[in-house]
Amino acid sequence: MNYNIAVIPGDGIGPEIVDEALKVLNKIGEIYGHEFKYTEVLAGGIAIDETGNPLPNETVDVCKKSDAVLLGAVGGPKWDTLPGHLRPEAGLLKIRKELGLFANLRPALLYKALKDASPLKPEVIGDSLDICVVRELTGGIYFGERGRSEDGQSAYDTESYSVKEIDRITRVAFEIARKRGNLVTNIDKMNVLESSRLWRETVLEVAKDYPDVTLNHLLVDNAAMQLVRDPKQFDVVVTTNMFGDILSDQASMLTGSIGMLPSASLAEGKFGLYEPSHGSAPDIAGQNKANPLATILSVAMMLRYSFDLENEAKAIETAVESVLDNGYRTGDIYSEGCKLVGCKEIGDLVVDYL
Ligand code: NAI
Ligand code: MG
Repeated sequence: MNYNIAVIPGDGIGPEIVDEALKVLNKIGEIYGHEFKYTEVLAGGIAIDETGNPLPNETVDVCKKSDAVLLGAVGGPKWDTLPGHLRPEAGLLKIRKELGLFANLRPALLYKALKDASPLKPEVIGDSLDICVVRELTGGIYFGERGRSEDGQSAYDTESYSVKEIDRITRVAFEIARKRGNLVTNIDKMNVLESSRLWRETVLEVAKDYPDVTLNHLLVDNAAMQLVRDPKQFDVVVTTNMFGDILSDQASMLTGSIGMLPSASLAEGKFGLYEPSHGSAPDIAGQNKANPLATILSVAMMLRYSFDLENEAKAIETAVESVLDNGYRTGDIYSEGCKLVGCKEIGDLVVDYL
């Protein structure tokens, strides 16, 4: 099969980590007989420098015509003094909206070889951890009506959700649960918020179509406690934009390493944007120090969710695990007795183990 991928290297370590991810993808193509075609486009700081716009129209057009998008990271101190709407991050918000990316998947996966990196005690974390937070990304309070009173003494933001929005994100969560541990935990605040009561009712409706999947509910404050007290009780978590923003960061830090965390943002159908959860790490850019594994694992998610290539996705994840099991580490995940290697070397190792 042929797949067209829009590639946005972006700023800072973006180009370095994307290079390694493409190296891995090319190897997958070679082994399994797929052809991946890349179209490189601009976004973020580099796009501001070259076109004056953090998200040029051409980038949106190319993304829309592609089967999936791979993004490195955007931003850096060079552009920090620009006004909000001209900053690199404005490009990110706009691209989510333009591409209709309503489902944000944030796996928190702790590899056995890295279990010492977790801030939790060994008896709590066990040998490994595998949670997938499914966060609604284009609705809720971040997109609701907002404003200030005339005298400037009060301000408001509005949390609003429609049945349609809740229905489609819940289905994404249930479908993913079927490919994993068959367990969905819904997180809301239905004891206080009306929007949460509609959320809960809709989740219960959708659940009727998935009788094979177990469904639990937690109020968000309790969920925050449970994530730290007993994270192994979670498989797939589904929640609103704001709760998901906070809880996905909390869940991901149970693994202790920012350089290992992939993410996917899905639209209706199979289209998705894939990117590491971390930023452009300007402090280590251009030094061959960045950990490319989050980006490489994002490519695995692309294969799984946009292209339905489960075996190929697993192959990448297994190769990453082998690299770690054999003691190779970039600086961010290094511990004593391990072999310290650079960004390029880790990419080469993943290719070798594939
Ligand atoms: P950051 O994630 O870029 O860096 C935080 C710390 O983690 C730094 O010490 C960095 O060196 C380290 N780090 C991050 N990724 C790493 C990797 N792959 N390998 C090794 N070490 C890694 O977050 P920070 O410093 O808050 O933001 C830097 C820039 O990135 C800012 O301009 C920010 O706006 C932007 N940013 C972009 C995002 C995106 O493109 N999606 C997301 C978050 C921040
Ligand atoms: Mg966040």
